[in-house]
Amino acid sequence: MLSEKYKEFTKWVIYQVYPRSFMDSNGDGIGDLQGVISKLDYIKDLGANAVWLCPCFKSPNEDNGYDVADYCDIMDEFGTMEDMDQLIDGLHKRGMKLILDLVPNHTSTDHKWFQESRKGKDNPYSDYYYWFDAPPNDWESSFGGSAWQYDEMRGQYYLHTFTVGQADLNWENPAVVKAMQDVVDFWVDKGCDGFRIDVIDCIAKDLPNDKDRMGPRLHEYIRALFGCEKTAHLFTVGEGNTNDIEDIVLHCAAERGELSTIFIFDHMECGRADKFTPKKESLKTLRDYLTGWQEKTSKHDLLYSLFIENHDQPQMISRIGNDRELRYESATDIAAMVFLLKGVPFIYQGQEIGMPVAHYDSIDEFNDVESIGAYRKYRETLSEEETLEKINFGSRDNPRHPMAWNGTEGNGFTTGKPWLLPHSRAAEVNVENDLAADRSIYRFYQELLKLRADNDAFTTGDFEVISAPEDDFFVFIRTAGDDKWAVVCNFEEERNIKLPFECEEPALSNLGRDTADGTYAPYECAVARAR
Ligand code: GLC
Ligand code: CA
Repeated sequence: MLSEKYKEFTKWVIYQVYPRSFMDSNGDGIGDLQGVISKLDYIKDLGANAVWLCPCFKSPNEDNGYDVADYCDIMDEFGTMEDMDQLIDGLHKRGMKLILDLVPNHTSTDHKWFQESRKGKDNPYSDYYYWFDAPPNDWESSFGGSAWQYDEMRGQYYLHTFTVGQADLNWENPAVVKAMQDVVDFWVDKGCDGFRIDVIDCIAKDLPNDKDRMGPRLHEYIRALFGCEKTAHLFTVGEGNTNDIEDIVLHCAAERGELSTIFIFDHMECGRADKFTPKKESLKTLRDYLTGWQEKTSKHDLLYSLFIENHDQPQMISRIGNDRELRYESATDIAAMVFLLKGVPFIYQGQEIGMPVAHYDSIDEFNDVESIGAYRKYRETLSEEETLEKINFGSRDNPRHPMAWNGTEGNGFTTGKPWLLPHSRAAEVNVENDLAADRSIYRFYQELLKLRADNDAFTTGDFEVISAPEDDFFVFIRTAGDDKWAVVCNFEEERNIKLPFECEEPALSNLGRDTADGTYAPYECAVARAR
């Protein structure tokens, strides 16, 4: 069912970099673009061929770059435009692509547009934001408190769906649409190959009506950005807010000319009752979500985004795997479960070495605005200890601790003082240790991604689940023409698994098994071609 354009995109393997925490080249404790450049071979050797860079634009960093003060300039701490040119060049020379993070819903209140807009009701930027004499509704900010903030200078309230420093742009104003088109064009001219689009579903509002935040003109705005001659070839992935297949078709079926794909988030609730509350759950839950989406998306010309981690999410391995004794087994088994499905793989920095969640004993050790807001809220009703347990589990700091390249002080990330504490398990879980181990998660990823790249069955092939819903394991097949592969992923308990057809010796297996049938240890997996 996939169009040619989407077939091409199934060959992309995207590695997500959180630049602030990836690699610091100058010892100021903050990751930067030169740091990313120095690790391009590491990313390429893994088997990724595209990098999604979280926002790297000028920003006062109230929300770590998601508060943009200038879309066409680089954040001071990250480097200069020359560094960016060098990064684009470094990627393209290696045959890799660059995906930038576009934040079209809001700007920093430091942005020139906002600074002008607040001055009065009759300058060219007056209507760039939502201004009201009184809050027209009772919307709350995603990070706590009212979403409406009074501005002394203008004498009116503006909308901020996120922090007070992130003012929502008014897309009803054609000048805003044009301004954002110019931003996209600027980066396309520079050689950017695609965009991840922050909270795309939020951009169209219907104020002062307040039924919900998804206004009727959303699709028109998306097409204005990505349905043009200059942009239609781009790879675009929206951060979505929908689990409805009809809606997803409207956003990203190929013939719509909108987005290439969208992050669907329902499976991200695996292992938790809410963002800060763990729940005992198993790999089975993840399997059921994934299987459901494989089946639903297969009926359309749709690309599914294969991801279980990002910069906003505590690591999945700690929620549904065993991140202690069976960390290697869990990390590799989950990788096979997710990245051999039909879609585009996204690997978050550290996932390829099985980074788990971290743990700290005081709220002072946290940086994330969302965690600090949640801490205050929970402390109203819970003890210090209970609250910290929640924050440790759910904090967005978990994936944002400096990448652990080795176990030394600074973890090979910086020679200075890191902007955020080193990961509490960095001495044990780091790239150097993983690569030196007999069983390396990074090397497993390499083998997996190579297998995927070498066999069309895993990219453009069909998907079929053959394990039963009640089974405590996941077996699926991927088929392209006569080429048929079985992917067998066991869950938490030892199980005997028998395939309904004969297979060759597994081409990939995390515990080195030589036959696809038989007894599987907890979290054991194997991938084998049918005879
Ligand atoms: C998205 C980003 C998140 C950010 C928010 C506001 O959810 O992933 O990191 O805080 O949007 O821009
Ligand atoms: Ca630096």
